[in-house]
Amino acid sequence: MIVDFSDLELKYRYKIMSRTVIPRPIAWIVTEGKSLNIAPFSYYIPLSSNPPTLIVSIGHKKDGSPKDTLKNILEQKRCTICSVNPELLTKMHQSSESLDENLSEAEVFDIPTKRLIEGYPPIVSDTPAAFFCDLFQKIELGGKTIPLILEVKRYYVDDRYVKDKESFDIEIEAVARVGKEYRLCTQKIEP
Ligand SMILES: Cc1cc2nc3c(=O)[nH]c(=O)nc-3n(C[C@H](O)[C@H](O)[C@H](O)COP(=O)(O)O)c2cc1C
Repeated sequence: MIVDFSDLELKYRYKIMSRTVIPRPIAWIVTEGKSLNIAPFSYYIPLSSNPPTLIVSIGHKKDGSPKDTLKNILEQKRCTICSVNPELLTKMHQSSESLDENLSEAEVFDIPTKRLIEGYPPIVSDTPAAFFCDLFQKIELGGKTIPLILEVKRYYVDDRYVKDKESFDIEIEAVARVGKEYRLCTQKIEP
């Protein structure tokens, strides 16, 4: 079977893309704007290790305005991307609700945060790991979704996951998306 995307309904394009590329990692992105914003994104993947870059595609709200995360990154040029462990799964999912930009998901869904690096948005307190990123490039695809290339400036990993700092003996856990479901993935960084 060969599917021609040119005359394919949008819902099937989405289903094929998001259910063939599996698992999809989840970027739980913290940004600062009119309020502290937290939202998950799974059109997300590492792009290059040198320069260390990630890409995330963010769409628009139903009223046609850019999602708060997109607006905040374009304005502030910075974001913090948190990983999600099983304990954080419910809050991560709740934070995908579209709120008014004056309302913070951190307050509405009671998601504790802490600022680790001045100048970058805070992390979600119990995240296993986080990337502190600068906007590198905005890409125009001609559609309603805007991919952003983000350059990683700093990395945080919770000491709970670090066995030995010198040898990078770290075991990470992160929830990923498989279709509509979530699955836990674990990975050793070293040795
Ligand atoms: C697991 C998950 C993955 C998501 N991935 C994306 C994505 O890649 N791109 C996107 O535009 N929206 C994605 N969404 C929807 C956004 O999280 C949602 O639109 C959210 O309200 C955006 O919030 P904001 O306006 O505060 O940025 C995803 C939602 C969930 C639950």
